[in-house]
Amino acid sequence: MTALDTLNPMSPLAAAIAKLFAAVLVILGLIFALVAVLVVFAIVRYRERPGAQLPRQILGSDRLEIVWTAIPILLLAVIFVFTVKVMHAASPSAASRSPDLLVVGHQWWWEVNYLKSGVVTANELHLPIGQRVLIRLESADVIHDFWVPRLGRKLDAIPGHPGYLWLEADAPGVYLGACAEFCGAEHAWMRFEVVAQPPAQFAAWEQAQLAVPPVPRPAPALAGRKLFVARTCVNCHRFAGTSADRHVGPDLTHLADRRMLAGGAVANTPSTLAQWLKDPNSIKPDSHMPNFQLSDAEVAELAAYLESTK
Ligand code: CUA
Repeated sequence: MTALDTLNPMSPLAAAIAKLFAAVLVILGLIFALVAVLVVFAIVRYRERPGAQLPRQILGSDRLEIVWTAIPILLLAVIFVFTVKVMHAASPSAASRSPDLLVVGHQWWWEVNYLKSGVVTANELHLPIGQRVLIRLESADVIHDFWVPRLGRKLDAIPGHPGYLWLEADAPGVYLGACAEFCGAEHAWMRFEVVAQPPAQFAAWEQAQLAVPPVPRPAPALAGRKLFVARTCVNCHRFAGTSADRHVGPDLTHLADRRMLAGGAVANTPSTLAQWLKDPNSIKPDSHMPNFQLSDAEVAELAAYLESTK
């Protein structure tokens, strides 16, 4: 994600915002150029010279005052009208239709619920291209802010006060999103990715996410499953097909399919997953994932279980 992402829009809403920004920038640029030219002209033309008289003094002019009041009012009115139009297009009202997705900000990760299919995932949001989805945005703790610069506006996730926004992507790709409101120590690692896919691929992903993994056969993964259920993992996480059904931490059922771990702090690989289980603070200090002082054998078994759903 770079500062230029907002100028490289990939959805109709982001394009409308970028166009408004460009139009305002041009208007402001013209005003700046006009003022700069007049200032330079006045400095050169009226600077003090030996023997020169004072230039003609104008002490108040109704016509001038009307002009310099009316022009800014007119310009601001034009900018206001176009801004309200873009805001209206980018901001669905709660009653417009039932939301497709429920996104919940947590310290420091994003929970994503597909309300129609029942898929639950984290820090990775899949979208079919060319379709507008309606997101209901909530927070589980403090104020966060959901922002995918290339796909649209940003919106605060406020505890107890759900918000709504549209999300849409024109072309397949992976678009980086981030929390854009300081929310505590690990605010910087509260990233997420929007994976925009052709509708058929998206449907296949959704089906795969709904699959309940069978009990794994290989010994390490099976031992990992026993550890997972016996240890305190089940107090915070959900894993379909087991007794784990909590949403304090991310749903781990299809963790192995995801691209990133720990809110984007590291890529999701078998070795980073093992490191995360062994010592979460070494990857993301202050994360709410505790260090359970697991032995290397236990880490290997748990990782084998979590990877077995791939
Ligand atoms: Cu959540 Cu910053």
